[in-house]
Amino acid sequence: MPLLHIKDISLSFGGLKAVDSVNIRVDEGEIVSLIGPNGAGKTTVFNILTGIYTVDSGEIFFEGNAIQNKIPQDIVEAGIARTFQNIRLFRNMRVIENVLIGSHIREPYNFFQAVFRTRRFRDSERENTLKAVRLLREVGLLARTHDYAANLPYGEQRKLEIARALATGAKLILLDEPAAGMNPQESEELLRFILSLRGRGYTILMIEHDMSVVMNISDRIYVLDYGKLISEGLPRQVANDPKVIEAYLGGVPDAAENNRA
Ligand SMILES: Nc1ncnc2c1ncn2[C@@H]1O[C@H](COP(=O)(O)OP(=O)(O)O)[C@@H](O)[C@H]1O
Ligand SMILES: [Mg+2]
Repeated sequence: MPLLHIKDISLSFGGLKAVDSVNIRVDEGEIVSLIGPNGAGKTTVFNILTGIYTVDSGEIFFEGNAIQNKIPQDIVEAGIARTFQNIRLFRNMRVIENVLIGSHIREPYNFFQAVFRTRRFRDSERENTLKAVRLLREVGLLARTHDYAANLPYGEQRKLEIARALATGAKLILLDEPAAGMNPQESEELLRFILSLRGRGYTILMIEHDMSVVMNISDRIYVLDYGKLISEGLPRQVANDPKVIEAYLGGVPDAAENNRA
C-alpha cells in the first residue's frame, strides 16, 4: 500500500483546468519530486492535499484512508505537513515560538488545561520545547532560537518553516520550492538535510525548480504541464523525456527554470 495515493484528481478554477486527472503515488520512505513550468498546477496539488481546496473529482488516500476534501486540521492530524512557496512564518514571534506552533497543532489539550497550566500541560510544554530545540539544532538554527523570525535571512526562514512542519509530528512532508531564494551553498546544505530526513523515516513530496536538487535527491519525479502529468519516472528517464524538454520552452529543464526571473 502506498503511503499517499492520489487517484485521478481534477480541479478547475472557472474555465481553467488547473489540475486535470492527476495520479501520483508516494511510497513510505521515498523522496518524490513534482516539477513543471510555472502555472503547471503544482502548488494547487499541494493545496488540495492539505485541505485548502476541494477537488471536483478524484480520490486521495493516505495510509489507506480517504482524505480528499478533509479540512486542513484533520490533514495535519492524519500526518501530512507542508511548507509554503511564499514563506508563511509568524514574523514577530521568535524562532522557537514558530516551531512550537507546529507542535501545538496536534496537542490533545483543551482550553482549561492550557489556561490553568495543569501539570500535564506543563510537562507537555517542556517536552515540546526540548523537541523544538532538537529540531532547530537539526536544521542548523540553534544559534537563532531566540531571534525574531523576521530577522532571519531568507534561506534560514525556509529552514524554520521545515522545522515547524516537522514539529507537527507528520510523516509525510510536502515542501513547496524549498530551495527558492537560496544560494548554491545553502541549497547544497538543504539537499543534505532533506536526504537526512529520509534517513530518519520521513517521506518527502517536493516541488522544486532547482534541477540540481531535484536530480540529485529524488527517487522518482512527476512532471506537470497545464494541469496534466506529462511524464514520470526515475530522474534520468524524466530528464531525457522529449515531452519534458519541450514543456520547458524547448530547452533543457535546468536552463529553462534556473533562468526564470
Ligand atoms: N485560487 C485560484 N483561483 C484561480 N486560479 C488559480 C488559483 N490558484 C491557482 N490558480 C491558477 O491555477 C494554475 C496553476 O497554479 P499553481 O498551482 O500555483 O501553479 P504552479 O505551482 O505549478 O506554478 C495557474 O494558472 C494559476 O493562475
Ligand atoms: Mg507553485
